[in-house]
Amino acid sequence: MTNPTDRGAADRPIPRPGILDITPYKPGKSKAEGIAHPIKLSGNENILGCSPMAQAAFVAAADRLNVYPDGRADALRDAVAKHYDLEPERLVFGDGTDEVLHLINQVYLEPGDNIVQGQYGFGAYAIGARATGGEVRFAPEPNLRLDVDEILKLVDGRTRLVFITNPANPTGTWLNAAEVERLHAGLPPSVMLVIDAAYAEFCTDPAFDDGLKLARKAANVIVTHTFSKIHGLASLRIGWAYAPLEASDAIDRIRPPFNTSIAAQDAAIAALADEDFPAKSVELVERGRGFLTQQLGGLGLEVTPSGGNYVLVRLPTTPGKTAIEGEAFLARHGYLVRGVANYGLPEHLRITIGLDEHNRAMVDLFAEFLGVAR
Ligand SMILES: Cc1ncc(COP(=O)(O)O)c(C=O)c1O
Repeated sequence: MTNPTDRGAADRPIPRPGILDITPYKPGKSKAEGIAHPIKLSGNENILGCSPMAQAAFVAAADRLNVYPDGRADALRDAVAKHYDLEPERLVFGDGTDEVLHLINQVYLEPGDNIVQGQYGFGAYAIGARATGGEVRFAPEPNLRLDVDEILKLVDGRTRLVFITNPANPTGTWLNAAEVERLHAGLPPSVMLVIDAAYAEFCTDPAFDDGLKLARKAANVIVTHTFSKIHGLASLRIGWAYAPLEASDAIDRIRPPFNTSIAAQDAAIAALADEDFPAKSVELVERGRGFLTQQLGGLGLEVTPSGGNYVLVRLPTTPGKTAIEGEAFLARHGYLVRGVANYGLPEHLRITIGLDEHNRAMVDLFAEFLGVAR
């Protein structure tokens, strides 16, 4: 029994009920046995690195390792507010979006409350909710796509938060702006809609937007963004949210006082000033996504249309050609991709878009693995 109710009578300190039932987050693999420098296409990182301007700002921050950062990140706050035309006081910064998502759960949930998310939704929402004693409800995603009606069906009087990832990870599918507005319109005003726009910059569908337009006018919408993906600053851990004023104020009260570093803040400011790097990143991803979708499709694999910097590919169930075997085969050849069985997708692999040469190698390796003559 992991969670006895009478913790005061236990023979040792026992974590709160539910904590030990949480499955830890599983990151993409970064090592391949016997291969010194594998190509990592398992973490949806930016294969181009980051802006040289961001790198220079990071290096310059080495002069200030002895001082605490500005906990409110005012310079970055102003830069983000200006860049996206947002009110600075409605912004919240965190140690990656991951922390912001945790803080949102902590602010809104108490034991017995629930969150609703997609069946294949990003794992961090559920971890954060369960850590507060909240229940997690998974809305079915027919055809690997969020479904507004399925989400709304699960909302009840104890629902406090609805999380959507748009475009979604790991599926890559997205809701267009009209669908998100319909979801929002169907929610009671007491429910916060959290739109995780981690990959929004990569989605080039004109009917899509990141939700900021809706969040500007709604009292119950939070949009989160990250510097980890389009700006390639994943290691610095910096993300942000645009929230209603009451929410940003509440989050600020429980936020660790110095949760974002000087290096991260300065690099993020520099990244925002560089228009070239994000444009190049989107161009590369769009080209690679189209190439992989078409070429892997040509090998007989089902590739889900993606709006992110990754594609989800379904492998056969035939012994010798399965996802788990495919992942191992690719790793032996120095390419790491992401098995997504832990997301309930045991037949799929998620592949981050690489450089053109990586994408070509990926297609050749899949052809070899599947035994498809070309
Ligand atoms: C959907 C989604 N949201 C949030 C994050 C985390 O972003 P950050 O690096 O800002 O914590 C990720 C990272 O993989 C993600 O896939």
